[in-house]
This record gives sequence, C-alpha cells and structure tokens, in this order.
Amino acid sequence: MTQSALIDHFLQVRAETLARVAPLSAEDCQVQSMPDASPAKWHLAHTTWFFETFVLERFEPGFEPHDPVFRTLFNSYYQALGPQHPRPERGLITRPGLAAVLAYRTAVDRRLLALLAHRPDSARDALVGLGCQHEQQHQELILTDVLHLLSLHPDRPGCAAEAPMPLAVAADLQWQQHEPGWTWIGHDPTTDGNFAFDNEGPRHRVFLQPYEIASRPVTQGEWLDFIADGGYRRPELWLSLGWDWVQAGRRDSPLYWQRSASDAPWSVFGLRGVLPLDRQAPVSQISWFEADAHARWAGARLPSEFEWEHAARSGLAQTGQVWEWTASPYSGYPRYQPAPGAVGEYNGKFMCNQFVLRGGSVATPAGHFRLTYRNFFPPAAQWQFSGLRLARDV
Ligand SMILES: [Fe+2]
Repeated sequence: MTQSALIDHFLQVRAETLARVAPLSAEDCQVQSMPDASPAKWHLAHTTWFFETFVLERFEPGFEPHDPVFRTLFNSYYQALGPQHPRPERGLITRPGLAAVLAYRTAVDRRLLALLAHRPDSARDALVGLGCQHEQQHQELILTDVLHLLSLHPDRPGCAAEAPMPLAVAADLQWQQHEPGWTWIGHDPTTDGNFAFDNEGPRHRVFLQPYEIASRPVTQGEWLDFIADGGYRRPELWLSLGWDWVQAGRRDSPLYWQRSASDAPWSVFGLRGVLPLDRQAPVSQISWFEADAHARWAGARLPSEFEWEHAARSGLAQTGQVWEWTASPYSGYPRYQPAPGAVGEYNGKFMCNQFVLRGGSVATPAGHFRLTYRNFFPPAAQWQFSGLRLARDV
C-alpha cells in the first residue's frame, strides 16, 4: 500500500467508526450491558489508544501521552504494556466523558497524520495498517454490543432504520460436493492481498476427506422446525456442556427471538428493532452449542474451518450475512509464532476454549472480509452475528 493509500485507508476507517456511533446518544455510548460487551465510548477510546500506544509512542519524536491515565483505562488485554482496567467494569468509566473521548480521537488522528507525512517506514506503516484492521474489528463489536444493550431495554428499540440486518437467502439448498485431497490453507500474500492477521498463517497443507457443504446458511425457518421438533428439549442432540448450558439458561430459542405467548408467532429483535421472523433469513445470534445441536438434528455436522476455506476458494455462495461457526477449535497453525513484543498478544494467547467462525456478517465493515479470516469466540457466546452452514461426510 502506498503512503497516500495508507492515509486514505486510515481516514476512511476512523470516519466509519464515527458513522457507526452517530445514531447513539451519549447515554447509549456509556452503558455496559454485560461483562463480554463494551460500551461504545470505550471502543472509541480503545481503538485510539491502540494507535497512540503502538504507533505514536514508538515512532513520534518527543512523544507525550494524551493523558497518562488512558494508558490503563483503555488497554484491553496487553499485559506487556502494564495494568488494565477490569473488563467487566468498563461501563463505570464515566470520565473521560464522550466529548473528551472524541477530542482524544481528533488529537491522535492529527498526530498520526503528521507522523505519516514523513517518509515511509515499513515497521510504522505495518502497525498503522494493523491498527486499521483492529479498529474494523471493533466496528463490528460496536454494533453487536449496542444491539445487546438495546435488547435489555424494555421497548427493545432499534438502533437505526437503515442499520444492517441479515436478509433472505436462496430458498433451495444445494449440496456442493468435494473430492478428497490435499489443500493449501492459510493466507497467501501473492494472491490474497497484503494484509492478514498472524493467526491466518503460516500457510500449510491439510488433507480433506470427501465432504459436501450447503450452498447457503441455515435459515430462521429451519430453526423454527428445529424448535418445533423439540430441539431445545432433547438431550441426545446436544453435547454435554451444551445441554448443561441449555438447562442452566432455560433456553428455548436463539438469543433475540421473542413471542408474546407459547402459541404466538415469533419475532426477532435486531438493529432495526423487533421484526416478524423471516423464514428465509439466516438464523443469527446463536452459540456454537446451538449450531452443533442443530447440525446433529439435521443429520449433518458443522464444517471444519479447512473444509470451509477450501469450499470458499471454489466459490461458496451466500456468505457475508452471518459468521459461520465451524467444528474447529481455535488453535495455532503448524509453526505458528506470535510476533515478538506486546503486539504478539493480539491473537495467540486466546488459543484455548474457543471455536473458529468463518466468513463475515452484515456488521463486518466493507473491505474486512477474507477467505482466510479466523474469527473466534467461546462456545456459549451468542451475541455476535453468528449462524451456521451445514456439511456432511460423503
Ligand atoms: Fe482491541
């Protein structure tokens, strides 16, 4: 990427974050609805902290922090950079207020653009690129975290009339068959673009048994059939931990499904508010446990992340509406080594007790989709735009 392209990309990413919070009030931006979700104000500050800490602190001559307190308040999880404010208590950070956080963004933007006016520096520019990708990840979290917050409001208000929501997919399901064989997995800089997170490599070969994969994600209509067939009441469909999770939460439907009585039609809450269930829209906001149980009920299984990537390279259809849970535990590829220093904490240290999701969702910012992208969440996490696509052995 040229210097001017990097600057344009940086400005575009920073503006998109502000566009996503534009429909929110200062109060919307403050509150933390659960320990896993962060206030929008914290996202605004933390993404700025990332540029200040990883770029300005290292490369700006005579660096002075914007506010030394921010170093702890807005550090998410980087132990090498010192202490962090506890994640479940991010909503208690009432100061700085929203206006001061927006001023922090403006100040860091100005300093970063001044730095980028100097001649290119590959280490610096790579970190600016990483900071942009990092901010795009938080852009999606802003929407999923706000959605969770608004789901707890008694009126379940929408975020905005034009907010993203998964739309109907093709009604008929085709099975796409794949022969057994070796396949290359992971980011290839010669054909896949110049950026990937470290967890998308090293590129390596994997042998796949013959399999077939569905031409579209599972729909809300199919999920209704699963519920009607006792999906949430039949322990034989669930893994042991998943069944415990169903019982403990008394779960009988996806996170944002609601109905006024047991014989009333279902509605689904989303960023546009509560809308009638759409049988052809992909099911979303489901946990890995639910995805796994549904696949078993359907006489299928979740694809491995390698099957997904292999199929995607030959043209998997109807991706990009919901992240697709895979059967693959999140771990390092063969010979994976995190980068040295604090930035090495970005992905590698989370490779335990999580599952990989592939694709991308309606909340994923444009330009942030990659065939090799590995999103990851714990198996009980429901609040993302997460769905599933079925696969079967051949
Ligand atoms: Fe972050």
